[in-house]
Amino acid sequence: MKSTNNGNFLIKKPANQVNKSDKNFYFDNGLKIGVKKDLQTKCPFTIHSFSDDRTFSESLHTKSAKGIGCSEKFCKGSILKTQSLKFNQQKNKQEAIKEHFEFLDQYYESINKKTSTFHIDRINLSDKHFRKTGTFYLTFSELEFAVKTSWRNSARCIGRINWSNIKLFDGRNCTTTKEMFDLLCQHIRYANNGGNIQSAITVFRQRINGMYDFRIWNSQLINYAGYQLSESETIGDKSQIEFTRICESLGWKGKRTEHDILPLVLQANGNAPDIYEIPEDLIVQVDILHPKNESFKKLQLKWFGVPAVSSMCMDAAGIFFNCVAFNGWYMNTEIGRDLIEANRYNKLNLIAKVLNLDISNNSTLWKDEVLLETNKAILYSFNKAGVTIVDLHSAAESFVKHYENEIVLRGGTPADWVWINPSMSAHITPIFGLEMLNYVVKPYFEYQEMPKLQKKIIKFKTLIRCIKPFLTNFRSKIQNRPKCSIYYASQTGKAKDFSNKVFNLYNKSFNTKVMPLNELNLERINDAELILIIASTTGDGESPSNGKIFEEKIHQNSNLQSNMKNTVKFSILGLGDKTYGENFGAFPKLIHSFFKSIGLSEMYPLMIADQMENEENTMLSWLKQSFMESSKVFSEKIKLQENEIEKMFSTKLFINTIKKLRFSPCKESSSSSVISNLSNINDKNLRNFEIIHREIIGFRQDNEPILRLKLRCKDLQYSPGDHIEIFAENAKENVNFVLSRLNNSQIHDEILKFEVLDESFSNNSSEFWLSDKKYPNMSIRQALTYYFDINKPISQDGLKILANKAINEKEKELLKNISEDWKEYELWKKDYPNLVAVLRKYLSLSLDVESLLVVLPQMKSRFYSISSILNNQKNEVEITFAILKYETKINGSVYYGLCSKFLGDSEIGKVISAEIIESKKFKLPKDLSLPVILIGSGTGIAPFRSFWIQRQSMLQRKSTDLNIGDFALIYGCREKEKDLLYSKEIENLRAAKIINDFYPAFSRDPNFPKEYVQDKIYENKERIIELINRGAHIYICGRSDMSNGVTKAINQIYDEKLNLSGKVNNQDVIKILKQENRFHQDIFNS
Ligand SMILES: Cc1cc2nc3c(=O)[nH]c(=O)nc-3n(C[C@H](O)[C@H](O)[C@H](O)COP(=O)(O)OP(=O)(O)OC[C@H]3O[C@@H](n4cnc5c(N)ncnc54)[C@H](O)[C@@H]3O)c2cc1C
Ligand SMILES: Cc1cc2nc3c(=O)[nH]c(=O)nc-3n(C[C@H](O)[C@H](O)[C@H](O)COP(=O)(O)O)c2cc1C
Repeated sequence: MKSTNNGNFLIKKPANQVNKSDKNFYFDNGLKIGVKKDLQTKCPFTIHSFSDDRTFSESLHTKSAKGIGCSEKFCKGSILKTQSLKFNQQKNKQEAIKEHFEFLDQYYESINKKTSTFHIDRINLSDKHFRKTGTFYLTFSELEFAVKTSWRNSARCIGRINWSNIKLFDGRNCTTTKEMFDLLCQHIRYANNGGNIQSAITVFRQRINGMYDFRIWNSQLINYAGYQLSESETIGDKSQIEFTRICESLGWKGKRTEHDILPLVLQANGNAPDIYEIPEDLIVQVDILHPKNESFKKLQLKWFGVPAVSSMCMDAAGIFFNCVAFNGWYMNTEIGRDLIEANRYNKLNLIAKVLNLDISNNSTLWKDEVLLETNKAILYSFNKAGVTIVDLHSAAESFVKHYENEIVLRGGTPADWVWINPSMSAHITPIFGLEMLNYVVKPYFEYQEMPKLQKKIIKFKTLIRCIKPFLTNFRSKIQNRPKCSIYYASQTGKAKDFSNKVFNLYNKSFNTKVMPLNELNLERINDAELILIIASTTGDGESPSNGKIFEEKIHQNSNLQSNMKNTVKFSILGLGDKTYGENFGAFPKLIHSFFKSIGLSEMYPLMIADQMENEENTMLSWLKQSFMESSKVFSEKIKLQENEIEKMFSTKLFINTIKKLRFSPCKESSSSSVISNLSNINDKNLRNFEIIHREIIGFRQDNEPILRLKLRCKDLQYSPGDHIEIFAENAKENVNFVLSRLNNSQIHDEILKFEVLDESFSNNSSEFWLSDKKYPNMSIRQALTYYFDINKPISQDGLKILANKAINEKEKELLKNISEDWKEYELWKKDYPNLVAVLRKYLSLSLDVESLLVVLPQMKSRFYSISSILNNQKNEVEITFAILKYETKINGSVYYGLCSKFLGDSEIGKVISAEIIESKKFKLPKDLSLPVILIGSGTGIAPFRSFWIQRQSMLQRKSTDLNIGDFALIYGCREKEKDLLYSKEIENLRAAKIINDFYPAFSRDPNFPKEYVQDKIYENKERIIELINRGAHIYICGRSDMSNGVTKAINQIYDEKLNLSGKVNNQDVIKILKQENRFHQDIFNS
């Protein structure tokens, strides 16, 4: 075996810079690029080079992330795109974390700092960033390393010997298409370099869950347009005909020459794409002339100098950088193919004619001659024009060198033989006889689906057909309409759903966008003319996660006044719940006062819809009033009569976007996993949790058990005070009952493809059906088990649809009436609280799947407070929950809560979909010496258990002379023997002085006076006041009425104390405690 270790190929670090520990590595410009062969992983694969009878030992493949999809029975070696990334594809959390930390290992190893404190600090920083934002961030140097390594790992690229020389343009801060365009022009200018082409890459903002994508729609930054003039006649590059049509539909007009440079189609933040012409002087082009044959000139061939791929996704560090453009320089055969192949410029016959070849039969090898002469012409012309190009032989030789380097440096490199070999004369290059292994090592560049208008899955052809009639003067019309930006902040999806309805209405007259609130850019707030906010509140008066970044900005930007002009109008709709007392609508109120403070002008007053009191009505009323007001304010630009608005509302045309659903058998073999579908539908990163233990710890009044449940999940992260949100499954017997009432009974288990009617494109003569995120490919049984909640009440809108499905006229009439009268509906709902109850009562309902799925509420998660602390070895989490059971008044039917019953009934070993939700405010004070008062009732004890276990473990780990503050627990339940939860544990902790004060209140125990937690506060007021005065933090967990009672009681004991000492208390203690961040609540009402 000949040696493969040719040290000459490696650029070594200068001797004076090499330290002792470096001796096993090779360097390129100071960047460590590999480990010597003898340090690499064993289990190599022997690779032969038949052209010179050598063998290589390939071991890098053992680090491969995945193969190219071949199986034992077939090889996918020649398939163009084996596993393109899907549009909007997300990594699951676990995968992202693993890849990110593997990347950091690679990076720190490359700069010789692996396991250094820098590396460790960086890991911690990434971890924090991910917890806060759900994504990772790369520094410039890390990103630079990512792009270089991605190129290095590009199995299909022959020119990789240059992988460490690429200039990075960091466009991650670009927010508009104009900024993107300017940077791409800078990129092209740099790449041109007066013809001496340089490699460069531009990276725009990465894909972030909950935000819309940035994209370049072009497949290459520079390409020639293609036009279909008639069925048989084309002009330009045939591969670009479809894309050229899109550009023209968006307002671009091509000159219809052979060489029209296509404009850049750029998309920022999921908004409609914008079109930009690349300035002519930025495009290096070369006329293709033959060194000997003068008549070649007649063909008027030319080609551009910078090949810049702009449609691939860089998969690096657990992040999809889906908007990147990178260039190298051409190899002659690539341009040769572009000019000659039938699906491109198709010049084979024309060139043969000019060369005067005998084309009468194949055996004259005229085609080969065309190929050879054209390639000679290309090389000649580029060289003459001083524009970089590499001939196929030199490129092949350089690849062999690179291959040898890589074998030495890291045990090999992934390589795709089919692509690496040039399209002509391959067998006389050294790579033809070189065996290669093809696999994926990350980071790397991957194919991805092309973007689509309006983020809907719709084929380009269909799209053009759909929108063509509307596209006349599209741009000018859109531009004249006032700009309206709708932002939503929504935890469980209600505000988000409603913002889509708001969009449907406003988009008729305004140039409207809808986005998560996190995307509201304060620096560019003046770009909008009208801002509408639809925001709910969650946690302890906090923002939902898709508004958290904006909430932080509010807190950081109290002095932004000077930048603002008050021509920007705004209106806010809040969604909330009055039972949260002072926190009712806390987050929309915060946004409201912030907007006012920065000088925006309120167009219509803040309204907050209370979910306990006909919220839909409040929401619609806000929408109507705000829309009327906006049509007055913007009356110069939009002409709408009041009666037209009335008509829109009376028909409620804009309310239901999806009116019709249809399905057909799915051609793909199976549906995707439930967990990934649920994650996708709900914009979450759900993970598999296995139920490993369940134990009864008490009983409710109705004798339903109260349980402690233990779940296990890999690489778990949480801290006391956090929640877990769980997706349940509908009970089998309920699913079977509903299935038995459906008309389409034969197809319960067949996987179906669902499509919804898109009313914005459909008209009387044609209907357009689209896929929708809410309906992944699934069977009807799966739909009713996992994706729709058959346990929740049917909405009034849903009842309207059901009424039409009643065969019996009386039932039809009844359901219709209920669907129109809110008060009657509220009463009726108590007796028929879910679909099963409705189907049992209304026997004439004849239901098909299509209408049922439109009527049913989507499956939503349920929150549970965590009752344990994390042990990293065990990866377990515990919750404390009661099984919800209720009886209806009218017929005494018994129903169970969906999730609690599901968790109570599921077998040990069952795997469920869930996610940890961080709760920032509900945390014990960092200062251990501060006292803590915990007040709760029922299962409200759940998070307190995690607190006391945390305290206990802290005390066990630290020295006993630690100054630990007092720990007081005030707990309300019904009977001591039935539902005083964790009583043994509490007793032991009392004995160990970990819990210093324990005040139980029993409301229904014959052996004790009837008391609630408030009574215990009065009874022990001296002690409680003392603890508060010593800086205690107060934690309340349980129902909102209990919480309201407790806050009142605390204020009252202070009043009394001051009265006794002859002073008047004019301060609200709770308010002060809140201001000092010493009052924390975790409220749940069921
Ligand atoms: C932040 C937070 C933390 C939480 N922590 C815990 C915890 O630690 N432990 C715990 O046990 N729970 C906790 N919960 C409550 C928990 O999320 C669930 O709400 C609870 O388990 C019931 O869910 P379910 O799916 O079983 O019931 P669901 O199927 O959601 O049923 C509830 C529905 O049943 C209907 N219903 C209920 N009673 C009646 C009635 N009398 N008449 C007619 N209809 C009725 C109503 O439509 C109601 O919306 C928490 C909630 C939140 C928001
Ligand atoms: C954990 C939790 C905390 C909540 N906290 C508040 C609150 O502090 N103030 C309030 O008005 N509503 C609160 N709510 C009620 C929600 O704002 C209300 O249910 C809203 O309709 C949800 O809208 P969404 O689905 O868009 O998030 C809370 C709801 C939950 C589940």
